[in-house]
Amino acid sequence: AGGRLWGGRFASGPAQAMAALSSSVHFDHRLAPYDLLASKAHARVLHRAGLLDADELGRMLAALAELEEVVASGGFAPTVADEDVHTALERGLVERLGPLGGKLRAGRSRNDQIATDLRLFLRDHARQVVLALGHLQEALLEQADALADAPAPGFTHLQHAQPVAFGHELAKHAHALARDVDRLRDWDRRAAVSPLGAGALSGSSLPLDPEAVAAELGFDRAAANSIDAVSDRDFAAEFLFCAALLGVHLSRLGEEYCLWASREFGWATLDDAFSTGSSIMPQKKNPDVAELVRGKAGRLIGGLTGLLATLKGLPFAYNRDLQEDKEPVFDAVDTLLLVLPALAGMVATTRFHREVMEAAAPEGFALATEVADWLVRRGTPFREAHEVAGACVRWCEERGVGLESLAPADLPGISPLLDADVLAVLDVRGAIEARSTPGGTAPARVREQVGALRAALHAQ
Ligand code: ARG
Repeated sequence: AGGRLWGGRFASGPAQAMAALSSSVHFDHRLAPYDLLASKAHARVLHRAGLLDADELGRMLAALAELEEVVASGGFAPTVADEDVHTALERGLVERLGPLGGKLRAGRSRNDQIATDLRLFLRDHARQVVLALGHLQEALLEQADALADAPAPGFTHLQHAQPVAFGHELAKHAHALARDVDRLRDWDRRAAVSPLGAGALSGSSLPLDPEAVAAELGFDRAAANSIDAVSDRDFAAEFLFCAALLGVHLSRLGEEYCLWASREFGWATLDDAFSTGSSIMPQKKNPDVAELVRGKAGRLIGGLTGLLATLKGLPFAYNRDLQEDKEPVFDAVDTLLLVLPALAGMVATTRFHREVMEAAAPEGFALATEVADWLVRRGTPFREAHEVAGACVRWCEERGVGLESLAPADLPGISPLLDADVLAVLDVRGAIEARSTPGGTAPARVREQVGALRAALHAQ
């Protein structure tokens, strides 16, 4: 049978093209540590079932521990003949134990093994992603706190809308990331189901103990249906959704930094360590971190849609199509763990130019709402107040000036409802202070949010 796990009924080995198509060891080899964990749990169960005696169990566990070591040190190289990670590790076991190495396969199948391995891998790596996300949240909150009272233009439709505290802009990203963390935690609850014991699809006639194996591997429970156990890839698809949405959040954050660092905005200067130059234009300093993050959101979305397309229409239970589940998942994890530290570094080291943002804050008649709100406080219906404030804007626009240029003498000509008191609300800082409703942009509210986000982050 060569090194294969399935040679008995075949007169010949696979054609070279068949073997090349079938092979997954070049990418699933990274599941080896998780496969070995599951193997140790399975060995103990075989022992309790009376299928391995105490001496055999001892030798089996010692060989698995040795394999863990060589795998960790990079000393265990899969060969071209190893179809997948399970084949490679069984070979390693047989090389160490002889025929005893062949006993471990009793009662399990690669179908329940691979589903278990991938869940273990993902649960482990989701925790790493949450940790890396925490560093980015930290960096955002630090800057948000420092800029909690810095006036800046606020946009809708990328047009000046109303002034906001810039810390409010930064903190909004931290909220999106907090939801991502929450989503991954919630995902983990559903991922914490062990497929091991399902065998190929129907369970096992051997007296195994799937619940004990589940507990040993840190799962909350064993799968309740063996067919579902080997065909369910919801955990992978759902993880990829979490990763894709996180990617979308990071991309939107990246886009804003690109805008802020542009000459037209001039709000931010990126640190040299987190920007790049041009091979032809000596003056260039480009926001490549932000752009790469924006770009990589595309591959995260692609991974999700690719896996959903793979799963759609698959009959139950295991089908070889499912081998396609791993690469998008690995790629998503690798992408996030690459992108998050760079983004955290970029955010932490960006310098913002308060004076530029503050000077731009009232531009574009951004205080027009203050005029309308002032009238409302005096009893004018908002519908009419809106018209009057609009008339102020038109009056100023026709003269090429801003609302701050309005003088007491101009007001009666615009509307009899206006008097000199209204000029007091045409103040950026006052306008921001005044937006003190819960969740509003008043600096005190921004500090409150930052405090709550920090507390949630440190409670993790
Ligand atoms: N390499 C396979 C996968 O990734 C492992 C399971 C193989 N099972 C099988 N019946 N061929 O899905």
